[in-house]
Amino acid sequence: MAQNLEERIVSADPRLEDVEMDVALRPQWLKDYIGQERIKENISIFIEAAMARNDALDHVLLYGPPGLGKTTLANIIANELGVGMRVTSGPAIERSGDLAAILTNLDSKDVLFIDEIHRLNRSVEEILYPAMEDFAIDIIIGKGPSARSVRLDLPRFTLIGATTRAGLLTSPLRDRFGVIGRLEFYTNEELQIILAQASNAMGIVLDEEGSFELARRARGTPRIAKRLLRRVRDFAQVKGDGVINKELASEALDKLGVDEMGLDEIDRTMMLSIIERFGGGPVGIDTIAASINEEPDTIDDVCEPYLLQIGFLERTPRGRKATKLAYNYFDISYPDS
Ligand SMILES: Nc1ncnc2c1ncn2[C@@H]1O[C@H](COP(=O)(O)OP(=O)(O)O)[C@@H](O)[C@H]1O
Ligand SMILES: [Mg+2]
Repeated sequence: MAQNLEERIVSADPRLEDVEMDVALRPQWLKDYIGQERIKENISIFIEAAMARNDALDHVLLYGPPGLGKTTLANIIANELGVGMRVTSGPAIERSGDLAAILTNLDSKDVLFIDEIHRLNRSVEEILYPAMEDFAIDIIIGKGPSARSVRLDLPRFTLIGATTRAGLLTSPLRDRFGVIGRLEFYTNEELQIILAQASNAMGIVLDEEGSFELARRARGTPRIAKRLLRRVRDFAQVKGDGVINKELASEALDKLGVDEMGLDEIDRTMMLSIIERFGGGPVGIDTIAASINEEPDTIDDVCEPYLLQIGFLERTPRGRKATKLAYNYFDISYPDS
């Protein structure tokens, strides 16, 4: 049975509760942003250089699975630059006029954050090319034979685009970003630091082993780590003495259907389907999604990247294959040959 994504505890998609908690807990400065050392180092150099030149930062593309900190990092960049940030998203900009209005209202050196930038429609995207490159847009004035195109100058600004799928970006758009940062899954140690910050802020007592138990089940994803923390806190209040230790964390997470590798029902169903119905693969992602009655997007954005990361899946030109590691995990003997 497919689980509803809304109920999926290890879903990396933001939910209302995440957003509410976030306002208080989002790191505001690069120094508080844990992990992602390579991107942080690059970005801090570019920020410093832009500020020294008194110019806008070059356009930045951030990509990686949901919940790894793209939006947070965009906010931090604007903060570090000391500029304003305008937030929108690919699907929210319906017509090119909407984007033109946003662009012409930016202040000098502002950040424009476009989330899910791979979902911009083509005519809107075309406005972005000259805007990014020449800080100008061409607008059509009048109609019919008397219509003429007028070039409008924009302030110098920084576009920060975020996407879960860099592969879906057109190359003219991708080529216009000066800085491209790929966010990586977090290590357990990094997640434990994030959990310590979050538990302090929430006034929760989380011991070392309890925090390790949460971290290793959080699929390398801060958003999931924080969500698990909230769920386990509820357990601790009702069942325990308020302290989150290893026993309490593992009992709570088992009850929530999150296993020791952070896999939930959808991941398990997907892996077992590949192994049992498709002989271990290779099998196409769409076929897998259809066979377990799940959205291909969930599989692409959330399940697959993590299953690849932990070495349960292998990408081949003919589709995905289950690895020996995965067979072992599910206690199914690996076919020799
Ligand atoms: N490097 C980090 N350090 C601390 N907290 C982080 C970090 N990255 C993400 N978070 C937290 O994880 C949650 C999800 O981050 P978010 O930026 O919304 O992810 P994305 O935009 O990539 O989906 C937020 O609560 C955020 O504060
Ligand atoms: Mg985001």
